[in-house]
Amino acid sequence: MSNNTEEQITRNVLDSMAHAPDRRLHSVMTSLISHLHAFIREVEPTQEEWATAIQFLTRTGQLCDEKRQEFILLSDITGVTMLVDAINHRSQDGATESTIFGPFYREGAQELPVGATISKDGRGEPVVVTGKVLSTSGTPIAGATLDIWETDENGLYEQQDPEQPDMNLRGKFLTDSAGGYCFVGIKPVSYSILDDGPVGQLLRVLGRHPFRPAHIHLLISANGFAPVTTHLFVKGDPYLDSDAVFGTKDSLIVDFVRHDSAEEAARYNVTAPFYKVAYDFVLKPLSKR
Ligand SMILES: [Fe+2]
Repeated sequence: MSNNTEEQITRNVLDSMAHAPDRRLHSVMTSLISHLHAFIREVEPTQEEWATAIQFLTRTGQLCDEKRQEFILLSDITGVTMLVDAINHRSQDGATESTIFGPFYREGAQELPVGATISKDGRGEPVVVTGKVLSTSGTPIAGATLDIWETDENGLYEQQDPEQPDMNLRGKFLTDSAGGYCFVGIKPVSYSILDDGPVGQLLRVLGRHPFRPAHIHLLISANGFAPVTTHLFVKGDPYLDSDAVFGTKDSLIVDFVRHDSAEEAARYNVTAPFYKVAYDFVLKPLSKR
């Protein structure tokens, strides 16, 4: 092992790990070293370029604290988060597709009655979302929980914006005995991910924008079923084909249908104009995983 030439160094590093007691870790690190060395051989970085890469990763780590996770953002904008998600959600048997969880979920959203609004500040255009939560066999699931969160009309989540009431635009809803649900939110807007750090810099030098297409986040769960973390995207959004974090899935893009009737708005306790969305969510029984 003493002769660490360009030809032999990869073998030497792999051999050094041969006795790692954790075989999964051994397998992961063997793959990582093999790919990393292959990458370096292909790119042939100068020492200045390698120092730049180290500095980038250092700044990415230095920006992480309880409130901000720049490494998750890096994973998101390189498509790795969604690739890991896809690998872990194969063979869904028709269950609702999952997408990125994101950094803005908060535990403890209030449980609200059928048809209530999650808006506490009355801003934005109301949207009435209705549908059912079903099993992959088609059976309605009573008592399923929909935990919902979205930004205000300014594109900011409540914890990013001191002007918004605490827990604004968050709420939990339970399905009724027929699996039905109904909640009122606001028509979501496209927004920029945090781009004032190294990840934002990387997007700029790559000629990419930092925007996500408008979406409502949902975490849907029920006893005996695999939970799903998903979004509802707005059909026609200009960023659907260039989501900065690659979170879009065709099956999650829905029509937000505009209604101008004040009479109909009153039925849902909202003001016109408002939007309606109809969407059924499908969960996979845990026994079939
Ligand atoms: Fe989001």
